[in-house]
Amino acid sequence: MEPIIITIDGYSSCGKSTLARQLANELNYVFIDSGAMYRAITLYFLRHHIDWNDPVAVKDALSEITLEFQYNGQTGQSDMFLNDEDVEMLIRDMLVSEHVSEVSAIREVREFAVAQQQKMGSRKGIVMDGRDIGTTVFPDAELKIFVTADPQVRVERRFKELYAKNPGITLEEVKTNLEMRDYIDSNREFSPLRRAGDAVILDNSNMTREEQLKVALKWSREKIAASQTA
Ligand code: DC
Repeated sequence: MEPIIITIDGYSSCGKSTLARQLANELNYVFIDSGAMYRAITLYFLRHHIDWNDPVAVKDALSEITLEFQYNGQTGQSDMFLNDEDVEMLIRDMLVSEHVSEVSAIREVREFAVAQQQKMGSRKGIVMDGRDIGTTVFPDAELKIFVTADPQVRVERRFKELYAKNPGITLEEVKTNLEMRDYIDSNREFSPLRRAGDAVILDNSNMTREEQLKVALKWSREKIAASQTA
């Protein structure tokens, strides 16, 4: 079977990564969480006090960054490594979430990440989730899914996820962060969050994980079958 490329884009906390991971498992494809790459870059900038309004400082900093996904045998998932350090947990921190949209709006940062993402997909057989995967990274992907969910549902889902790690967090903080990220991600100059014209919409507000996986698997299998005869 010839493998295909599947892109999953959408707003923050729509369950894109969960769906992408499950789909990749079912299809025996590689799952790439492109947001983790922007988060790792943001972590580096914060740690090293990089002034990201200065293009020279950004370029210099990017030349010091190596990003890699490595399989974690304990969790059965891939962790984000920043310069050989496992930062999978650290990049989910609220401080990173507060700055990641700003950092990922920078042209040099996007070029840096997109080039690596395209390389990861050169042999196909991947499911990549993000904001611009179907529009900019893989505009010729065989299957593009655009995930949406009711904003209130998204806030509650994200709150539950974060509360488990940080019981000090409030619903209001989570709501403000999601609204801010959606706004910046959709309004930035370089490859803003948009639904690709040929993407199928998956509104999972009232769906369980199993239900959304079933729908996405059906679409995937149809596209894989169609691409064999193409
Ligand atoms: O998927 P996530 O919430 O972990 O992504 C974190 C941020 O990274 C998101 O607010 C915007 C940015 N991002 C992006 O600009 N392009 C992508 N393809 C993925 C994420």
